[in-house]
Amino acid sequence: MNLENKQIVVTGVSRGIGLALCKLLTSKGAVVYGWGRNQPTDFEHKSFHFISCDIQKEDSVNAAAATTLQQSKGRIDGLVNNAGLGYFGYLESQPMHEITTMISTNLLGVIYATRSLLPQMKAQKSGHIINISSIAGIEGYQQVSVYCATKFAITGYSDALYKELRDFGIKVTCVHPGSTQTNFFDNVQSIDAHNNMLQPEEVAANLCFVLEQSGNFLTNSLVFRPLNPRPKKKD
Ligand SMILES: NC(=O)c1ccc[n+]([C@@H]2O[C@H](COP(=O)([O-])OP(=O)(O)OC[C@H]3O[C@@H](n4cnc5c(N)ncnc54)[C@H](OP(=O)(O)O)[C@@H]3O)[C@@H](O)[C@H]2O)c1
Repeated sequence: MNLENKQIVVTGVSRGIGLALCKLLTSKGAVVYGWGRNQPTDFEHKSFHFISCDIQKEDSVNAAAATTLQQSKGRIDGLVNNAGLGYFGYLESQPMHEITTMISTNLLGVIYATRSLLPQMKAQKSGHIINISSIAGIEGYQQVSVYCATKFAITGYSDALYKELRDFGIKVTCVHPGSTQTNFFDNVQSIDAHNNMLQPEEVAANLCFVLEQSGNFLTNSLVFRPLNPRPKKKD
C-alpha cells in the first residue's frame, strides 16, 4: 500500500526499532500513533502522535486504542507490534518477575493490542498487522529459554492468525530480525550491542517494504540477519 495518509499504530516507540520505524513512516507521509510508556526524547513530527500505553496492561492498551480511533476518525491501516524486551540467564536463576514481564510484554501485549484494533480492521475489511518476533522465535539459544518461548509463541500465533484473517482482507506478517544494535542489550550482561549487528534503520526500512507491498501480495514471514554477526577478529 502507498503509505501516504495511512493510519498506523506502532508499539514501543521511545527508542530502537520502533522509533526508527516511526521516523521512516512519517517521512513517507503516514500518520503514526506511537503507543508506549515513554515518549521519544529526540523526535517530533506533525504526523506523529504519542499515546501513553503500558502494553502489559489490557486496560491501558484498550484506552490507547480508543484514543487512537478517535484521533484517526475510526481508520486503522496498520499495527506494528514492536514493544518487547529480553532478559537472559540460566532458567532456575532468573527472577520470576523477569519471566512474567517477558511473557506479559512480548506475548500478552501483542494479543491485547491486536484484539483492541481488530474489530475496526474487520469492519474496514483491510489492515496489516506486523508482529516483531526474532530469530530467537525460530531457533533456541542457551540461557535465552523464556525469551525464545515468547518469540516462538509469536511465530505460531502469527502463522495461525494470518490464516484466520486472510478471508477478512487483513494481512499478518511475522518478522524475525537477527541481532540489532539497540538498547535491547542493556538488560543482557553477556552481550554488548556492536556495529556488526543490524541497524534499527535497516530493520525499519524492511518493515516499510513489507507494508508497501500491494493488496493481494502477502509476506507472511520474513527473516533477516547480519551476514557476519560478530566484529572482525584481528589478524
Ligand atoms: N535488538 C535486537 O537484537 C532484536 C532482535 C530481534 C527482535 N527484537 C525485538 O524487536 C523489538 C524492539 O526491540 P529493540 O531492539 O528496538 O529494543 P529497545 O531499543 O530496547 O526498544 C524496546 C521498546 O519497547 C518498549 N517497551 C518495552 N516494554 C514496554 C511496555 N510494557 N509498554 C510499552 N512499550 C514497552 C520500550 O519502551 P520503554 O521501555 O521506554 O517503555 C522501547 O521503546 C522487541 O520486540 C525485541 O524483542 C530485537
